[in-house]
Amino acid sequence: MTYFTTTRKGPELAVIVPTYNERGNVALLVERVRQVLANLDFEIIFVDDDSPDGTHTAVKDIAKDDMRVRCLRRVGRRGLAGACIEGVLASSAPYVAIMDGDLQHDETLLPKMLNALRGGAELAVGSRYVPGTEAGNGLNRVRQWGSDVATSLARRALGINLSDPMSGFFMVRREKVEAVAGSLSREGFKILLDLVASSKVPLKTVEIPFLFKTRNSGVSKLDSAVTVQFLGLLVSKLTGGMVPLRFLMFAFVGATGLIVHLAALHTLNARFELAFGWSQLAATMIAMTFNFIVNNSFTYRDKRLKGVSFVIGLLTFYIVCSFGTLANVSVANLIHDYDASIPLLAGLAGAIMSSVFNYAATNALTWRNV
Ligand code: GDD
Ligand code: MN
Repeated sequence: MTYFTTTRKGPELAVIVPTYNERGNVALLVERVRQVLANLDFEIIFVDDDSPDGTHTAVKDIAKDDMRVRCLRRVGRRGLAGACIEGVLASSAPYVAIMDGDLQHDETLLPKMLNALRGGAELAVGSRYVPGTEAGNGLNRVRQWGSDVATSLARRALGINLSDPMSGFFMVRREKVEAVAGSLSREGFKILLDLVASSKVPLKTVEIPFLFKTRNSGVSKLDSAVTVQFLGLLVSKLTGGMVPLRFLMFAFVGATGLIVHLAALHTLNARFELAFGWSQLAATMIAMTFNFIVNNSFTYRDKRLKGVSFVIGLLTFYIVCSFGTLANVSVANLIHDYDASIPLLAGLAGAIMSSVFNYAATNALTWRNV
């Protein structure tokens, strides 16, 4: 008896769709992509961060009848950029597109992008700002302004020459992502910007204008934390990746904690006439708790501790910060002993020392991956 094994070639194009609570949009999205790519060999990979609305169930229901549709369900993790990267790395297709799951991106661009790549381009960007297009009605005034500021910052600071580096809609040769996958930031929204900034040799790029539509159903997940992450990404890239994005956020939170500390100290000491020593101690506890909570919800939003882990995390955070304070005071004293003419410099060195220490130690202890 002879057995025949039939093999099927992998697809030419993978459309990666990051999703968080997009249950109401996936069926229509798949339908539209199927139509527009009817004659092509493609797959659609949804990367869902365990959406509470059950987006992954909806996707897998569709996938039962169409093996071109796949779902990568990530548990215990959040992050648009990270989801996109994993989707790309899960595919073997030579070309990969990133597209939002809420139908704001015009899927009819996909064949045009593919043709551009087949013709030799390495990156095709769906751009909302190429001259001759409206910015689209999908952004409100404030978002539009924020987007403009971010765009010009990115252009100037990173020397990126795209009309719309903030776009979340593009197609790229997979190998170009694979090459820099390890150095891409998993937090935040700005994966295109990061990809372009991280590529050693500039990518041969074409830009294709499109109208950014309004969201079909559900709500946007872009919030203030995403904006802070973006600013952090800029600084991190400017320093050549030397300073990690998380550290910058951690240091920023630490600086705001100082304000909390001083406010608490003043209130307790001056208003409630608590002795200075006790006021200082209480203010320190308040500031540490504040820092922990803010770091837990912003800096480490992807590893957010809850319940018992939250309490254990808080305790380790207190312990680490106490050592951090020791380090701070010893370094400051050391420098001050050596040269007492600029006490502020000694103080600053101490502060930097303790934030580096606190960051490294809490990164390894408090928010370690269990
Ligand atoms: N897996 C996963 N994890 N997906 C996410 C997450 C997450 O943490 N956060 C958002 N998404 C998915 C959404 O479900 C949606 O499919 C897509 O990512 C875009 O998210 P939106 O919340 O709709 O973002 P937006 O419309 O406000 O932002 C868009 O425009 C920006 C420029 O103004 C996106 O295209 C951004 O990439 C783009 O930078
Ligand atoms: Mn959207």
